[in-house]
Amino acid sequence: MDGATNSNTQTPFLVATIAVIVVVLFKWLYPKRKPSRPHWEKPIPPGSFGLPIFGELLGWIRALEGGAGYKWIEERVGWYGPVFKTSFMGTKMVFVTGQVSNKFVFTSPDDMLQSHQPVPIVHMTGEQSIFEVHGGRHKLVRGAILGFVRGEGLNRIVPLMSSLVKKYLMKEVEGKESVLGVILMKKIALKVTCAVLFSLKNEEEIEALFDDFLLVLKGAWTLPIYLPFTTYYRAIAARRRVYDRFCVIIDRKRRQLEDGSLSPHDDLIATMLSLRDEEGRAIPTREIVDNLITIVIASHGSSVSLNASFVRHLAMDKVTLERICEEHTKIIDETKDETLTWSDIQKMKYTWKVQWVTLTHMDETAFPEPEKFDPSRFEGASKSFPPYMYVPFGGGQRVCPGNDYARVSLSLIVHHLVTNFRWSMLIPNEPIVRIPFADPAMNLPIKIYRRGKEEA
Ligand code: HEM
Repeated sequence: MDGATNSNTQTPFLVATIAVIVVVLFKWLYPKRKPSRPHWEKPIPPGSFGLPIFGELLGWIRALEGGAGYKWIEERVGWYGPVFKTSFMGTKMVFVTGQVSNKFVFTSPDDMLQSHQPVPIVHMTGEQSIFEVHGGRHKLVRGAILGFVRGEGLNRIVPLMSSLVKKYLMKEVEGKESVLGVILMKKIALKVTCAVLFSLKNEEEIEALFDDFLLVLKGAWTLPIYLPFTTYYRAIAARRRVYDRFCVIIDRKRRQLEDGSLSPHDDLIATMLSLRDEEGRAIPTREIVDNLITIVIASHGSSVSLNASFVRHLAMDKVTLERICEEHTKIIDETKDETLTWSDIQKMKYTWKVQWVTLTHMDETAFPEPEKFDPSRFEGASKSFPPYMYVPFGGGQRVCPGNDYARVSLSLIVHHLVTNFRWSMLIPNEPIVRIPFADPAMNLPIKIYRRGKEEA
């Protein structure tokens, strides 16, 4: 398999790295106690702040567009070492790379190192998003999210997710000769999230949210220039519409909670409405909306990119497809049921290994020939890798709460796809663009047909 596919989810990870690992180290560099030397005399890492205002952002974007984000970092690591300074749009920052740095970032306490997202992301998620809050507030909101996307909560929603994935897959694919793989993954991901986590059932309501969410997602990864012709301007307008729609939904759910037709555990919105802080105060509507938008932004791009990359890979690699198909046919033979449960997901061991490979692992000290597609890297305890070396979902107290949800969601998509359809790429060498997620440039047009029927 080519390197592009293998590192397909590399960019979101790297961009997340900017958000998380590239933390402004002011607390470290400029401690509160009176410094023994003025801060401008303190050692700061080598590197370049680049051009005035833009800093090194344009070079970084060019590297991402050319699929060379990793090379951009590697080059600087070669020049300056694993910790280097840079600047994007006036924000001075420190890039830290490698296992030791990952450990430092993920294990440092909140009062020493705080995680914040880049400006456009904050404008899209909102300032009261889980990304931006710390301490007790972060724990409170995170706990509510975890209740739905991990453990028992996730276990409970698998059958519903399974039937929805199948329903939306069939609706989008049945009767068509070709589809755009990326758009298909986007529709399934957003519709399932809206139905499962927010219990939205009205298709029109979801469709209206879908178009605006695509704009909001673009806005999160664009230059924050607020002029009528910019993507950012349209994204801000879309965010306002999403905000208004969520306010209507929240009011409806608040009334349903009051009249007893909805329980606090029925969906994430009901849970958030029922949350109380240590002083017994409810969470303001604005904060709930910020967090609902955050869930979509945090889950959508990376999951879609991973899922589309998987579909692309299976179209190119018949050997892996056959092994995956074998695993899933066996599950159907055993369960005799089209709707899968948590225990069925546990049987998808090979599928999960392929998912791991599709996520980033570019450090050749732990992964020889990192660009090679090799699911056996993740087989057996003897082949395990050092801690903090491979962190596609982050780590520490901000480790992605949705990693199991992402895994289940992809496993279900793969299951219903391989057991019902076969597909081939209409543009075999379609380039991969990486702004910010590594997606095929033309949205992955695929020819798709029922399994067992000859390809015309
Ligand atoms: C392939 C899919 C995914 C990848 C690669 C991914 C990756 C990440 C990473 C790297 C972080 C940052 C961790 C940090 O700050 O240290 C993160 C945070 C987060 N992710 Fe994911 N994620 C994925 C899917 C999801 C899904 C499906 C959801 C929700 C259903 C989700 C919700 C979140 C939330 C809410 C946070 C913020 C956590 C916090 O600040 O406490 N993610 N994710």
